[in-house]
Amino acid sequence: MSDNREQWGSKLGFILAASGSAVGLGNIWKYPHMAGQNGGAAFTIVYLVCILIVGLPILLGELAVGRNTQLSPVGAFTRLAKGSNWKWVGFLGVASAFVILSFYGVVGGWTLRYTIYSLFGGFESLSGNPDASGEVFNNFISSAINPIIWQLVFMAVCMGIIIKGVKLGIEEGAKIMMPLIIIILGVLVVRGLTLEGGSEGLNFLFKPKFSDLTPSSIVLALGHAFFTLSLGMGTMITYGSYLDKKQNLINSAIWVILLDTAIAMLAGTAIFTIVFAMGADPSAGAGLIFVVLPTIFPQIGGGLVWGTLFFFILFMAALTSAISILEVITAYFIDEKGWSRQKATLLFGGVITFVGVFCSLSMGSFNITTALDISFFDFLDELSSKYMLPIGGALTGIFILNKWGIGLFLDEIKIGMEHINLDWNFVKNISNILFIVSALIVCLIIFNELTALVLGISLQEMAGL
Ligand code: PFF
Repeated sequence: MSDNREQWGSKLGFILAASGSAVGLGNIWKYPHMAGQNGGAAFTIVYLVCILIVGLPILLGELAVGRNTQLSPVGAFTRLAKGSNWKWVGFLGVASAFVILSFYGVVGGWTLRYTIYSLFGGFESLSGNPDASGEVFNNFISSAINPIIWQLVFMAVCMGIIIKGVKLGIEEGAKIMMPLIIIILGVLVVRGLTLEGGSEGLNFLFKPKFSDLTPSSIVLALGHAFFTLSLGMGTMITYGSYLDKKQNLINSAIWVILLDTAIAMLAGTAIFTIVFAMGADPSAGAGLIFVVLPTIFPQIGGGLVWGTLFFFILFMAALTSAISILEVITAYFIDEKGWSRQKATLLFGGVITFVGVFCSLSMGSFNITTALDISFFDFLDELSSKYMLPIGGALTGIFILNKWGIGLFLDEIKIGMEHINLDWNFVKNISNILFIVSALIVCLIIFNELTALVLGISLQEMAGL
């Protein structure tokens, strides 16, 4: 470990930064419509089980690898498994970061544009008119210049925060943005619940409808558990590497999971109470946020404020996640190549923004993956969330089971927990089981996706489910 490696300033700062990474577009944009369309609380129950069985062990595994080595993923795997090929799992993480941030930065730009659009009263003319709103959204994302300008601004803010460093940039940013997200979301939930008919949204989101739960929604819940906790690409290894030995990793991991889950539920509540109170279509899927919400905010008293606040928290959530993705790449070049933070951030943030420009263009004028019959944007999204993250996560689990060893992993976990009386033999057995189960489950999802890709039919379809 280099003597001048940066560290988090406080436990709270670390928890807010790590949960800032976890809380993102996945919580506020993806989870509510996925739950709404896949059985409400039935989906949420499966999702929570996935978080506990797959998410918790891999999250702890990543944090322990990072804190033990005080290195970002490539260096961490190299140190713990010298002379082996495990370092490629670290490289896979760096590659995933490139892929994800390319399209994530584009959506980050959209959130910023919608915040400003709402602030200046742009939603007024869309009131109660989903067709007009759909047209405005499609015109915006498919235009050649406009979304790219917003993407550039979003990426510039992201790079600016990273350049300030771990403590003064990432941690301070999270300390401001995370409490703001929670407070504003709380206010929006109260607003939604106090609207007449809003509580029906609670039924939609939280009443279990097991008949709507299909095998593919279970696969979806599993994949989402990974994405939402930022697992499988070394983000939590990188954030863990800035931790000192005083911290209780289990306690921190549970905090991150609780905050991530609570914010997803709050976002779902805010959105569906408002949607139901205003009689809008709750099954609008991915377009719910950018198309439906702008048509209903102007119908609520003070809608300009609520709409602006909503898109502002979406922007902050996307920003704290984007920061953690870029930090994986920046940390690699600092740790392994000895570059300055500024050089690594500007150069690779710039390269990612450039690739992102092609994602944005693929929504309209120019698509480089036309031959594959998919937009470049969707291509990168699917590549990362269906393949790269689950593969990275499964390999991390296998690494801990087979290479590093549960014994050494637990030795790392024990540091910072000396004052707590635990039956460590029991913990060891449970950890073994959880890692085996999580690696198996994730391998199954990947296999399922690959069969769907290669044979055009997934395992569950083959089984007639
Ligand atoms: N967890 C983020 C979300 O829910 O939007 C997305 C994400 C961030 C994925 C960081 C992976 C990552 F490394």
